[in-house]
Amino acid sequence: MKILTVVGARPQFIKAAALHRELQSVPDIQEILVHTGQHYDKDISDIFFQEMEIPTPKYNLGIHSLKHGAMTGRMLEAIENVIEQEKPAMLLVYGDTNSTLAAALAAKKNFIPIGHIEAGLRSFNMGMPEEINRILTDRISDLLFCPTDAAIQNLYREGFEHFNCEIAKTGDVMQDAALYYGQFSAAHSNIIERIGNDEFLLATLHRAENTDNPQTLIELVEALNQIAKEIRVVLPLHPRTRKKLEELESKPNALTIGPVGYFDILELLKHCRMVATDSGGLQKEAYFFGKHCITLRKQTEWVELVHQGVNLVAGTNAEKIVDSYHVLSQRHSDFTIDLYGNGTASKCISSILVDYLGKL
Ligand code: UD1
Ligand code: UDP
Repeated sequence: MKILTVVGARPQFIKAAALHRELQSVPDIQEILVHTGQHYDKDISDIFFQEMEIPTPKYNLGIHSLKHGAMTGRMLEAIENVIEQEKPAMLLVYGDTNSTLAAALAAKKNFIPIGHIEAGLRSFNMGMPEEINRILTDRISDLLFCPTDAAIQNLYREGFEHFNCEIAKTGDVMQDAALYYGQFSAAHSNIIERIGNDEFLLATLHRAENTDNPQTLIELVEALNQIAKEIRVVLPLHPRTRKKLEELESKPNALTIGPVGYFDILELLKHCRMVATDSGGLQKEAYFFGKHCITLRKQTEWVELVHQGVNLVAGTNAEKIVDSYHVLSQRHSDFTIDLYGNGTASKCISSILVDYLGKL
């Protein structure tokens, strides 16, 4: 049976790598990879395929750097063509990017069942493109693979039990990836040698709501600069943020490096003192590696981290971010509680998929 997996952005390569490893061992499943092209620079695309040994996608649609409507629309049309050619039994999508929504729409319009990995997450902020993408994708998906209890509750609150879909709690495939590739990262990365051994806070920034408003970006740079007076700040820059920072006068007083590959980021996570980020993925990875996290947004979808006391949602106010750094510096937390499945999510998803496909 053919499964079409559509990916397009950095976090999706990481998530798809974890499930791909699992699906490889299922004899009756043939997974065909489609890369929409949304992320195209080598250091946020190709490097993940190489390091994580993901096969080169059969299709690369080369669609990127467009406004939301144009990007989603062109992807929808191109993915429909791939569906017509491959006639898959099922289509898999990850997360909440424009590639996710475009692929889900293309499948639904062609009566192909959809499996959504990372279903049910909500920020309750409809100003975020990701919130629109994830709500619409969930609504038309047939199999909703939820990483957490909070995700399941969100779906029930929206009445999903009345829709014709299966909802399952599976854990988070990102933890599968972190645990598996984390075994090899030290051998494949020299990032700690390159940046030196002094203590550091690992920061990343790329969300549209943070980068595209100059006032917000200046405030965030100010926050990192204040923290940098107390601890070194290492900031691997997403290309979107690099471009926006070039337009600003205020510069981060941090060790800015290009976006790094997966082995490097795993080593940075292992060695850092704390994480400050607006990334969804990094918030969880901080937990996997026993690090506190300051979330540089007003909401998080990963509410269990906040309940656990390991993540402070600081928003974008510099004073609040610096205060959060001080609070978390003194905090001793338990990072051993199983919030995300402890590496079993891909197995769980694969077995649900096999059952589902067997009934088609
Ligand atoms: C996208 C996702 C976001 C996700 C992030 C992961 C949407 C709406 N957003 O945001 O949810 O968290 O990926 O990293 O789908 N660019 C490059 N090189 C690249 C890719 C992008 O220079 O390889 C630049 C281009 O100027 C582009 C801009 O970054 O216009 C934004 O890229 P885009 O893919 O639209 O959104 P991301 O910010 O990457
Ligand atoms: N990541 C990486 N290199 C970097 C920054 C992030 O490999 O320089 C990884 C990170 O560890 C996580 C994923 O990319 O696994 C998260 O992607 P991103 O922050 O771009 O998107 P989000 O998770 O917010 O959608």
